Amino acid sequence: MKKIMLLCAAVLTLVGCRQGGGNDDNQQPETINNTHQMDTNSHKRMVILNASPRKDKNTATLLKEAQRGAEEAGAEVQYIDLIDLQFTGCRSCMACKRTGNQCGGVCAVRDDLRPVLESIRDAAALIIGSPIYWSFPTGMMRNVVERLLFPMLSYNSDGKGGVQRYLDKRMNCGIIYTMNVTPEGYKAMNYAALHEPDREHLEQYYGHCEVYNAYGTWQFYPDYEKYDHSAVDLDEKQWYRDNQWPRDKQAAYDMGKRLVTMN
Ligand SMILES: Cc1cc2nc3c(=O)[nH]c(=O)nc-3n(C[C@H](O)[C@H](O)[C@H](O)COP(=O)(O)O)c2cc1C
Repeated sequence: MKKIMLLCAAVLTLVGCRQGGGNDDNQQPETINNTHQMDTNSHKRMVILNASPRKDKNTATLLKEAQRGAEEAGAEVQYIDLIDLQFTGCRSCMACKRTGNQCGGVCAVRDDLRPVLESIRDAAALIIGSPIYWSFPTGMMRNVVERLLFPMLSYNSDGKGGVQRYLDKRMNCGIIYTMNVTPEGYKAMNYAALHEPDREHLEQYYGHCEVYNAYGTWQFYPDYEKYDHSAVDLDEKQWYRDNQWPRDKQAAYDMGKRLVTMN
């Protein structure tokens, strides 16, 4: 009995929204049509998420440029290294779909990501930066996207052929990807098709999402000579470092500025 009570307490602690929890497929979700009211300063608040495990390399460098751009435009920026947080992707607990749930479009699971998701709910702009790992954004980024978007989606019809949302929110989003491949490799491996769904879903839910790709990044710090690299075209890497990288930083800076100033 004591064991059962402890288990119940653990489940209630994990899943935060009232009337949540459980995976009861017979329940029809009732939509809380929640148009989120941002506070008066929120048009100037941006959240930046670094989904690289490295806190000071390519992705982080570009994200810090984006932060500088946003701050110079007068925004307040919350910069988060996801590697410091303990969190998972969606657990499919269905708490956010229960009839009468009060999740308000924010994931019910109480782990380190929850306050970040609440902060994003109240922000005006969001940038996620990720390296490409085995053709895709990192698991950290994918986990965030799952937890960010699924709680907003209702399975109730909107009566116009679509579905309702638990949270109706407008936010300017950007994604910055860094990767080893050159634009030619990107095209040959059809990365655009692999990466487009995340952009598309963020745009669908928040109204705007743009992507910047930084190619041919400098992977081995401090220099390639300390690592096995005979298959790497070092001249090409150096060219990207000297010529393209400054442009990447400028583009990231511009993205930061643009996302907090555009409507
Ligand atoms: C596990 C792993 C897998 C990778 N897979 C790819 C890949 O599929 N395509 C690619 O272009 N680069 C790939 N890379 C290279 C990184 O995307 C690239 O170096 C990135 O700029 C690293 O970002 P960071 O400096 O912020 O860590 C991979 C790197 C690692 C560690």
